[in-house]
Amino acid sequence: MTLGELIERITRRFTAAALFYGQGTDNARDEAAWLVLRGLGLPFDADLGGNAKDAERIERLAERRIGERIPVAYLLKEAWLAGQSFYVDERVIVPRSHIAELLQEKLLRRRPVRRVLDLCTGSGCLAILAARAFPGAKVDAVDVSPAALAVARKNVARHRLGRRVRPQRSDLFDGLGAARYDLILSNPPYVGARAMAALPAELRHEPRLALAGGGDGLALVARILTLAPAHLEPEGLLVCEVGDARAAVQRRFRALKLAWPRPEVLIAVRDALAAPASEGAGARARSNPSPARR
Ligand SMILES: C[S@@+](CC[C@H](N)C(=O)[O-])C[C@H]1O[C@@H](n2cnc3c(N)ncnc32)[C@H](O)[C@@H]1O
Repeated sequence: MTLGELIERITRRFTAAALFYGQGTDNARDEAAWLVLRGLGLPFDADLGGNAKDAERIERLAERRIGERIPVAYLLKEAWLAGQSFYVDERVIVPRSHIAELLQEKLLRRRPVRRVLDLCTGSGCLAILAARAFPGAKVDAVDVSPAALAVARKNVARHRLGRRVRPQRSDLFDGLGAARYDLILSNPPYVGARAMAALPAELRHEPRLALAGGGDGLALVARILTLAPAHLEPEGLLVCEVGDARAAVQRRFRALKLAWPRPEVLIAVRDALAAPASEGAGARARSNPSPARR
């Protein structure tokens, strides 16, 4: 059997099984090609006319993808984001943040960036992409989960960025003292309680701590918007992913001047987060340092 034939065969099986996609690919063919090619240790541009050695092992992995709904990234222990490969396992979510695209764009690159904070770093993917985007910058990569930090450390070592990317444990900003940053990136948990109860089986393989954002999903986002100004340099920028909660964020933080370079991602300069105390719910949240913990 050729590689192309094996990919077609597994594509048909994935299609018939009505899998959930979104953890690295968005369709059955790409998911099958990833499993076959990378499962066999081949590059994505391998000649599909080549012989598919070890097809039985790949078929067994496909069986687990279907039967147990295990994401391909966890089966292969690898994920790709912005063209870079990362080690992953079930201690971290499969990287897919829209912030990765923004890091390739001028929007973020035009300002001088010496210190970056990646809040809620998981696998460390965004911290590593930030270190590549800003070669002179030091990056703090923060997570509350020691298990996630073990994965982040592995990726930092693989990417040989140990001198510039520092994984450390912290509950959001709590462990960072008075540190200030030119750029704060965050892809925090933002899935609301109702969506958590209806998660596809594939997403249930990811750590609950990485997804659940409280009742309306905004528990951590609220804390980040509240506390970020104290950790931003005067010209500093916050970039925060909120999934499909844009409308909810705009309602709750209507006093803040947020911009939306993607429907799922807000950005704000420090002053835009520091609205007067009389303005709106966002400002009220700031006068209570941890409204979202309740
Ligand atoms: C959605 S994942 C994002 C991971 C990674 N940045 C990415 O984009 O793939 C959210 C991460 O936030 C971490 N987390 C959850 N609550 C946290 C908290 N209070 N402080 C710091 N990190 C937290 C989780 O452990 C998880 O690794």
